[in-house]
Amino acid sequence: MILIRKFQPHDFSGVIAIEREQFGEHDPYMYMTLYELNEDTFFVAEHGGMVVGFVVGVSSLVEASVCGRVFSIAILEPYQGLGIGTQLMKSVLNEFHRKNIGNIMLEVRSHNYRAVRFYRRLNFTIQGLEKGYYTDGDDAIIMKHRGWMP
Ligand SMILES: CC(C)(COP(=O)(O)OP(=O)(O)OC[C@H]1O[C@@H](n2cnc3c(N)ncnc32)[C@H](O)[C@@H]1OP(=O)(O)O)[C@@H](O)C(=O)NCCC(=O)NCCS
Repeated sequence: MILIRKFQPHDFSGVIAIEREQFGEHDPYMYMTLYELNEDTFFVAEHGGMVVGFVVGVSSLVEASVCGRVFSIAILEPYQGLGIGTQLMKSVLNEFHRKNIGNIMLEVRSHNYRAVRFYRRLNFTIQGLEKGYYTDGDDAIIMKHRGWMP
């Protein structure tokens, strides 16, 4: 059974292992800082005591209103396509909703078609393209959530 729950500090090594497998681009210790600042919107998926996926949502103040951003989401490869990512995204969207944060954005690499399709199914739409957004020069597609879904 897959358990979706809030991140706890002892999940750190599991999250970092997935980050390395899927991205290998973030400073691992940044995740502890993200946790300290965004405890309520950092979720993990656990299976048999092992962390198999995570999502980090961050909140920030933009022109006097609070905005939400899905900073990163990843699922261990053997666990992809089972609905875990959808469950994690719904958890973070519900938490943003509970906090009255309606303006939710994310960035995704422009060639990550699967992720773009995944976000579309979760009610995100494409807002634009940011050229050279990533440190390796890749472009980012900017997506915005169209509103809460249960
Ligand atoms: C993108 C990502 C987070 C999606 O998570 P996921 O757990 O695989 O997503 P879901 O299973 O909820 O949905 C994805 C697919 O599984 C299918 N699916 C959903 N529920 C399912 C179920 N119960 N059984 C079988 N398939 C299912 C969906 O139709 C979808 O298919 P498609 O993507 O091939 O069109 C994951 O694939 C991932 O970690 N990718 C690598 C990292 C990444 O790109 N992150 C996003 C950029 S920041």
